[in-house]
Amino acid sequence: VKILALSGSLRTGSMNTSLLQAARELAPDGVEVELFDGLEAVEPYNADRDTPGAVPPGAAALRARVAAADGLLISSPEYNGTIPGQLKNAVDWLSRPFKESALWSKPVVTMSAVTGAFGGVWGQADLRKSLGIAGARVLEGELAIAKANEKIADGRVAAELEPQIRELLQTLAESIEPSGAEESETAPAGATA
Ligand SMILES: Cc1cc2nc3c(=O)[nH]c(=O)nc-3n(C[C@H](O)[C@H](O)[C@H](O)COP(=O)(O)O)c2cc1C
Repeated sequence: VKILALSGSLRTGSMNTSLLQAARELAPDGVEVELFDGLEAVEPYNADRDTPGAVPPGAAALRARVAAADGLLISSPEYNGTIPGQLKNAVDWLSRPFKESALWSKPVVTMSAVTGAFGGVWGQADLRKSLGIAGARVLEGELAIAKANEKIADGRVAAELEPQIRELLQTLAESIEPSGAEESETAPAGATA
C-alpha cells in the first residue's frame, strides 16, 4: 500500500511536515509513506493550461504522484481560519478533469498542527469539504493538534501523538486493502462540481 503524504506548509521547520515524517516511521507493515516535496513548485491553477500537453511541470508532477498513490495523508496548518493558498491550489489541480482526476475516489485522511488553541479545525473542515467536492473519499477520523509547538519540536513528535497517527494510518490502509473498493462507480459523497 502506497501512501503519499502532503504537507500544507512549505517552511523547512514545519510541524506538519514533522508529523508526516513521524507517520512514515509509524506506518504498519506493508504500508509505505512517501513525502511529496514539490508543493512549492506547483504553478497557480490556470484552466487555459489545464489541457493535454499544456499542464505545467510542477502541477503535472503533483498529479502523477497522487495518481500513483493508493491513498493520501495530508497534514496542514490553518492560515487565517482556512487552508494555506498553495494547498488549495494543489487541490484545484488535483480535482480536474472532474471524475477522471487524480483525486477522484482517492481515500484521504487529514491532520492539522497549529500553534493556536483550536487545532486548526476550521482549516481542516475546509480542506475536507474541498476534497469531498473534488470527489475524494475523505475518511472519518482526523487529528487536530492545538498548541502543537508544545508537542512537536526540532522534527520530533511527542510520543502521546503516536497512537493517533497510527490509527489514522490504519484507517487509511484498511480503506485501501479491500481491492476494488476504490473502483466503485458511485459518486463519492459531496461530489457536486
Ligand atoms: C499567514 C498565517 C496565518 C495563520 N493563521 C492561523 C490560524 O488561523 N489559526 C491558527 O491556529 N494558527 C494560525 N497561524 C499559525 C500557525 O498555526 C503556525 O505558524 C504553524 O506553525 C504553521 O504550521 P507549520 O509549523 O507546519 O508551518 C498562522 C500562521 C501564518 C503564517
